[in-house]
Amino acid sequence: MRVFVAGATGAIGKQLVPRLVAAGHEVHGMTRRESKQAMLYELGAVPVVADALDPDQVAEAVGRARPDVIVHQLTAIGSVDPRHFDRDFALTNRLRTEGTDHLLSAGQAVGVRRFLAQSYGAWWYVRTGGPVKSEEDPLDPTPAREMRDSWAAIRHLEQAVVGADWTEGIVLRYGAFYGPGTSMAPGGELPEMIRKRKFPLVGDGAGVWSFIHVADAAEATVAAVEHGSRGVYNIVDDDPAPVAKWLPALAQEVGAKKPMRVPRFIGRLFAGEVGVVMMTQLRGASNAKAKRELAWRPAHPRWRQGFAAP
Ligand SMILES: NC(=O)c1ccc[n+]([C@@H]2O[C@H](COP(=O)([O-])OP(=O)(O)OC[C@H]3O[C@@H](n4cnc5c(N)ncnc54)[C@H](OP(=O)(O)O)[C@@H]3O)[C@@H](O)[C@H]2O)c1
Repeated sequence: MRVFVAGATGAIGKQLVPRLVAAGHEVHGMTRRESKQAMLYELGAVPVVADALDPDQVAEAVGRARPDVIVHQLTAIGSVDPRHFDRDFALTNRLRTEGTDHLLSAGQAVGVRRFLAQSYGAWWYVRTGGPVKSEEDPLDPTPAREMRDSWAAIRHLEQAVVGADWTEGIVLRYGAFYGPGTSMAPGGELPEMIRKRKFPLVGDGAGVWSFIHVADAAEATVAAVEHGSRGVYNIVDDDPAPVAKWLPALAQEVGAKKPMRVPRFIGRLFAGEVGVVMMTQLRGASNAKAKRELAWRPAHPRWRQGFAAP
């Protein structure tokens, strides 16, 4: 198939493009920057330079590539202060709203048979009931105040994609990425914060996180490109874990001292309500549907071994 990847140069794009090429697909990889065309050639893609927030550029790029499938992997996350979550996600939120709409319009104009988009399965599920959620469970009806715009952007993306009845609209709710090129990679933002003891354990640390190695996320995406059906898939590992378990393990892995423990009210002071929610209330996600329907298995089923992998 001809596959158009928007966000082909990012942490997931760099893993995804060569896998699609190896599976025999013709990949057109989008970037804003002329300077990244050589990287895209090396990954095996036909480079396409366009700004995802410019509807004319997107329409022209997609119109020229005439893909069978579009994969939307656009984000612009950078470093995030949980006290100003929506501020730091503002550009990503535009990519998830306007960017999604532009790609959908362009895809409809050329009649793509599948449209896949990146969503997030590690923060947005309802914070009541059991610790692990399936795709059938509701999203959080009352997200923390500082992340409401970001929640709305995720909702927009998911509803627009699954609601596109002219194509097979597929939403991939990835777990928290780790592995090469991610902010969890050795020397990345999170390990560095942990090493500097700037990432303490708040309260009981009962918030459950789902992780995914970025290579496993790419493998699942190839499977969904080839035979996914309309709807949502959690793309996470087999081992959702509370912060109280994974944070000390990651600290040990990066050679840091044990994380400090602070009570909730202190956590709220330096990380706001969002930080407290992330540390104490999140729910994890189940990958049962993706395994069943995509015939996919993560090569790194457990974050503990995955964190230690190269
Ligand atoms: N599930 C997760 O845990 C998750 C999800 C996403 C990101 N992250 C993490 O967040 C860190 C930062 O990621 P990031 O958001 O900077 O993403 P990234 O990994 O750098 O990828 C962003 C992609 O979006 C493209 N892009 C952004 N704005 C664009 C625009 N206006 N027009 C065209 N393309 C555009 C970029 O292309 P060009 O720059 O080439 O134009 C790039 O290919 C990563 O290390 C990753 O680990 C985690």
